[in-house]
Amino acid sequence: MLKKVVFLGMGGTIAGTATSAADNVGYRAAQVGVAQLLQAIPTLPVALGGHELVSEQVAQVDSKDLEFAQWVSLAQRACHYLVQPDVTGLVITHGTDTLEETAFFLSEVLPPALLASKPVVLTCAMRPASALSPDGPQNVLDAVAVVCTQGAHGVLAVCAGTIHAGRHVQKGHTYRLDAFDSGDAGPLGYVEEGVVRLAHAWPVMDAVRVPVSMDHLAQVVWPRVEIVMNYVGATGSTVRALCAAPLAGAAPVRGVVVAGTGNGTVHVDLEAALREAEAAGVRVVRSSRCARGRVVAATVPGSVYTFAHSNGLPPVKARIALILELLA
Ligand code: SIN
Repeated sequence: MLKKVVFLGMGGTIAGTATSAADNVGYRAAQVGVAQLLQAIPTLPVALGGHELVSEQVAQVDSKDLEFAQWVSLAQRACHYLVQPDVTGLVITHGTDTLEETAFFLSEVLPPALLASKPVVLTCAMRPASALSPDGPQNVLDAVAVVCTQGAHGVLAVCAGTIHAGRHVQKGHTYRLDAFDSGDAGPLGYVEEGVVRLAHAWPVMDAVRVPVSMDHLAQVVWPRVEIVMNYVGATGSTVRALCAAPLAGAAPVRGVVVAGTGNGTVHVDLEAALREAEAAGVRVVRSSRCARGRVVAATVPGSVYTFAHSNGLPPVKARIALILELLA
């Protein structure tokens, strides 16, 4: 049976173009179709090692503008291909700005049984396709090397020769080519001249996870969950405004993730507003604005520690986890 590697295009800088090849910043993301991008990589057929190439444009978007409906389409198309026995794995070309959110979302909603045997690899670029020296083609080749590696599975991200687990990957730099890291977990491994060297085992699938129905995701209205931050001089006014009766046409806030200082601590006035929100039925989750570490639970009655914590997730991923929990 001829095996396939499927490429799903989502847009991003990897598909971006600038008017000048010297311009790595002033470009428009999401301009070049995924099929055209792949055609421009001369060594891709060799890297595919006999796999048939299948590509589909699922979205063409600057990832800062991604919408939930596009996530649902992506998850549906990923499932469609992953169940096919002749599909070895998927490569998703995506913008870097929200790649970590999409990677986490897919890790949470794609069926664990499929993710336990097949890889879904997100890749990207920090320079547009029109750059003098674009990084996208090498990132695609590295993603293909991961997909074609025996035993590779789970949602992964590949950028600048480094492999990250979808749960841990985070964009950590605004412009460097090696823009991602995996925080305390460290990278899963590296791609060295087309060969994968693992530093950790492939991700373990959460077998007890409640199955997520793609139809349900597509049909229901997603709950509104907002993120607020603690800082010097913070007040509870943002949370109070968010949780006040919504203006006509606006969705009510169902959850608030607080990006606290340090171990998820918050200003006393913000804490009071979060308690008012919780008393009114809004779910509150405590996370940290720190780039490293996790919020550690403690038992101090009447303190900020009585709010639910984010299970080690940074604020943007804690928000997705809370949305999915509310959806379930
Ligand atoms: C985007 O996230 O779509 C634009 C920025 C990038 O891909 O680096």
